[in-house]
Amino acid sequence: MRIEDVQALASLAGRALLASLPAYDESSALALGERLRREGLDADFAAAAMTQARLRERATAKLGPDARRMLFTVDGLEQATRAAVADRRAALLAAALPPGAHVADLGCGIGADAVALARAGLRVLAVERDPVTAALAEANVRALGLADAVEVRTADATAVDLSGVAAAYLDPARRGEGRRTRDPEDWSPPWSHVLRTAERVGAVVAKLAPGIPHSLPPAGASTEWVSVDGDVVEAAVWFGRLARPAARSAVLLPSGETLDARDVPPPRAGAPRTWLYEPDGAVIRAGLVAEAAELVDGTLLDPTIAYVTADRLLSTPLMTAYAVLDGVPFSLRRVRDLLRAGGFGDLVVKKRGTAVVPESFRAQVLPGLPARGSGPTATVVLTRVMGQQSALLVEKV
Ligand SMILES: C[S@@+](CC[C@H](N)C(=O)[O-])C[C@H]1O[C@@H](n2cnc3c(N)ncnc32)[C@H](O)[C@@H]1O
Repeated sequence: MRIEDVQALASLAGRALLASLPAYDESSALALGERLRREGLDADFAAAAMTQARLRERATAKLGPDARRMLFTVDGLEQATRAAVADRRAALLAAALPPGAHVADLGCGIGADAVALARAGLRVLAVERDPVTAALAEANVRALGLADAVEVRTADATAVDLSGVAAAYLDPARRGEGRRTRDPEDWSPPWSHVLRTAERVGAVVAKLAPGIPHSLPPAGASTEWVSVDGDVVEAAVWFGRLARPAARSAVLLPSGETLDARDVPPPRAGAPRTWLYEPDGAVIRAGLVAEAAELVDGTLLDPTIAYVTADRLLSTPLMTAYAVLDGVPFSLRRVRDLLRAGGFGDLVVKKRGTAVVPESFRAQVLPGLPARGSGPTATVVLTRVMGQQSALLVEKV
């Protein structure tokens, strides 16, 4: 995309055209493109508008109704923070700062976080070095009526004067030349720049990939692993006076349920008990399985696997609970016998700590079930119990 395309799409005529396009549908895209060109639209402009229609459609799941007024590139959308996550972070930042405080968004992309920060009542300096992406951010804050609160500046964030800024937010790009980069110094801006900014500004928050090593954030910072509807989407490191007392936390959205690291002993491992708990991915990534197990006086099925088992039932978004109905050492025949005895006609396979491929295992079990297709669906957990490959018949609570 070129800056001229952004300007044309953001103009009155461009916005009217985008608003007039039907919901994007692959099967009618060709015909629509031809119709637009017949109506006298420049071919490149028509193609750019149709791309936006497609991206807006895709963006809605991430950004909600705002997506219908925003402009994107494929990369810009992929890197954008989901609205639920950006809104929560912006609210926390706003609560920690004086009203109307000035915040720098250093590497703002298409502006999803900048929008959330402005809506939370902060003034935002949104810095983006890629001119087209900066033009998109500019168009987006305008389209959402936030131009007074956000200054978009096309510049290198590592060279921007941050005097007068009360806090900074960084969401470094994690790819270079089409590949995801794992070395924090390959991020842009690099991790060392995040650390320098934290020293200089004090109040800093950085959004990182959920797979970061626990050793990356420095002492004194706090890191939260955030999941949305069970998908772990990021690790956010809060520095300086923004840091929380717990070094590590799991935050589950949309509930907002939070679990903090505490000094708890590693849970014991033992046989399955009445209930089986599957911790949310954020709990696992944050290394808080022991803390989660303690909530239910639980033990692990295996010291190396994140399945908790307990005699206490607790309803919490932090872990999905299952009733344990039966359990056998793993074999195709034993699992089939188990399902036969229960009159099951289908099965859902969950697994952890085993090389079995759920789909092929299911395909092997199904033909042996007399009630195949007509009986209820069983949930079978394939995992290790104290080192032994096992199958548990469970029922979601
Ligand atoms: C992960 S994206 C930001 C996404 C944004 N938080 C959002 O929610 O839309 C990172 C952005 O930082 C920009 N960037 C990378 N290095 C930069 C630098 N040194 N100065 C300014 N921008 C930079 C990239 O071009 C990219 O658009």
